[in-house]
Amino acid sequence: MNNIKIKKLQNKKSKSKLICLTAYSKSVSQILDKFCDVILVGDSLANTLYGMRNTHNIDVNTMIKHGISVRQGIKKSLLVIDMPKGSYRTLSIAKKNAKLILKKTKCDAVKIEHNKNNYNIIKGLVSSNINVMGHIGFTPQFKKKFKVEGKTLNQQSRLIKQAQDIEKAGAFSIVLECIDTSLSNKITKILKIPTIGIGSSNNCDGQILVTDDLLGLSGFYPKFVKRYVNLNKIIKKAVSNFKKEVLLKKFPKIKNTY
Ligand code: KIV
Repeated sequence: MNNIKIKKLQNKKSKSKLICLTAYSKSVSQILDKFCDVILVGDSLANTLYGMRNTHNIDVNTMIKHGISVRQGIKKSLLVIDMPKGSYRTLSIAKKNAKLILKKTKCDAVKIEHNKNNYNIIKGLVSSNINVMGHIGFTPQFKKKFKVEGKTLNQQSRLIKQAQDIEKAGAFSIVLECIDTSLSNKITKILKIPTIGIGSSNNCDGQILVTDDLLGLSGFYPKFVKRYVNLNKIIKKAVSNFKKEVLLKKFPKIKNTY
């Protein structure tokens, strides 16, 4: 457990925003590391990288393989790895899988999506010295249809209770995904641990996005995503130039040849 890094991250709450992004490979994590507090190997790699319909079928070994790659690009950021669906269905399964993920990837923490009964799982992992990040609101492992959460009073009190329980269970921070603006503000104020928002307004202590979305690579641009660059367009241009030059025998030149 890297508790110094965790404490440093927690100390930033309400002093400075936490910068968090996803990475699935060393080539990306080594670029992000300079800018980020947290680099997450998200199970979003199921859709983003493997072209799956959702995140439900990605397995622990795939998360580990990408975690090992991402670890190699990181010098200072906190490395968090998503525990995939099914890998924490009971406490003993969760412990076995989290320990394997930590051992193989040398990550600093794992992330678990909220699902009714996982307070005990978080509590159990934390008591085994495993750092856990919680995740509430729209939790893709357990929900089929996208929906903003926390619009009604009922939903609001349920989400506040979930957030408090996750904090009580020992999580060091929590992702708020697609939660109503005023509720994310309330939760951020109530909790001592930092909240990391995605689609949950700038009231949160930090922000996370899927890097491929931010770069304009994924083709997935819901309202909460800002595309900072259109890499698809840039790649298309480069590939089309390559094709042109090969056809015209302009590439490779003598300087590219042995
Ligand atoms: O899987 C993922 O990338 C995530 C973030 C979007 C928070 O869980």
